[in-house]
Amino acid sequence: MIKKAILPVAGLGTRFLPASKSIPKEMVTVVDRPAIEYVVREAVAAGIEQIILVTHSSKASIENYFDRNFELEMTLQQKQKWDLLKEISEILPPHVSVVSVRQPQPLGLGHAVLCAKSVVGDEAFAVLLPDVLVKDDAAQNDLAQMIQRFDRTQAAQIMVEAVPDHLVDQYGIVDVAATPDEGQSTVMQGIVEKPAVGTAPSNLSVVGRYVLPAQIMQLLEKTPRGAGNEIQLTDGIAMLQQTDTVEVYRMKGQTFDCGSKLGYLKAVLHYGVEHPKLGDAFKAFIKELEL
Ligand code: G1P
Repeated sequence: MIKKAILPVAGLGTRFLPASKSIPKEMVTVVDRPAIEYVVREAVAAGIEQIILVTHSSKASIENYFDRNFELEMTLQQKQKWDLLKEISEILPPHVSVVSVRQPQPLGLGHAVLCAKSVVGDEAFAVLLPDVLVKDDAAQNDLAQMIQRFDRTQAAQIMVEAVPDHLVDQYGIVDVAATPDEGQSTVMQGIVEKPAVGTAPSNLSVVGRYVLPAQIMQLLEKTPRGAGNEIQLTDGIAMLQQTDTVEVYRMKGQTFDCGSKLGYLKAVLHYGVEHPKLGDAFKAFIKELEL
């Protein structure tokens, strides 16, 4: 079973300026909690027990959020604010731990993943890119299905979704013989980082959820700089595919790219209307706006 997940959070969030100037973009609030909490919940729902943050000195507030805050807990206790106390104590279930390692230089996503090498050791692991929120309505989320498939086949799993053809240059794009149905995996024939429009092998884009064998770390050590002069995870996966079966998993859920302002607004709307306490009032307010 896969128990470890790497969340690269060292990026400076230039797409989300000015908000991300002095707070990490991962800490920007979606309804009533930071965006990264949704990603951690997704990982935990898929059975992950250790979250490995690959982080930067400016991002201590992420670690603080997942740590206990003794003074706050004491104050809430003294004031008998039991609901709030429960809420802040339940951010992480007791069986889940968060550890962090630093990415000392911004050398790319492949390099960020490689920074967690000593923490994952010889275990297979998941990678979740926290810019993207994945909303799953099914009892079992997409990541859980990828993990199950990996357990059965030992083939790396790359989550994808279809994107409009004019957007392929913003993503990793995979090559497959035939597009799988939603919720299904198929053998990956190739993968390329941000191909120019008109040159992409398909319109299936890499969403930012991966299940990878430990050996990818040795490959990332050998991966030369690629697109954007960065060490790309995509290129490491392309190398893995030379010797091992890699599969593309087509997701069922919905994605929100919270690294972009419009994606963030869409996420706030979707999660807002479904919020157990605020949802009804928020929906009524949206109707009042008569847009
Ligand atoms: C990264 C990956 C890319 C993937 C994307 C998903 O790119 O390199 O393959 O499609 O995340 O969000 P970035 O958005 O960091 O440029």
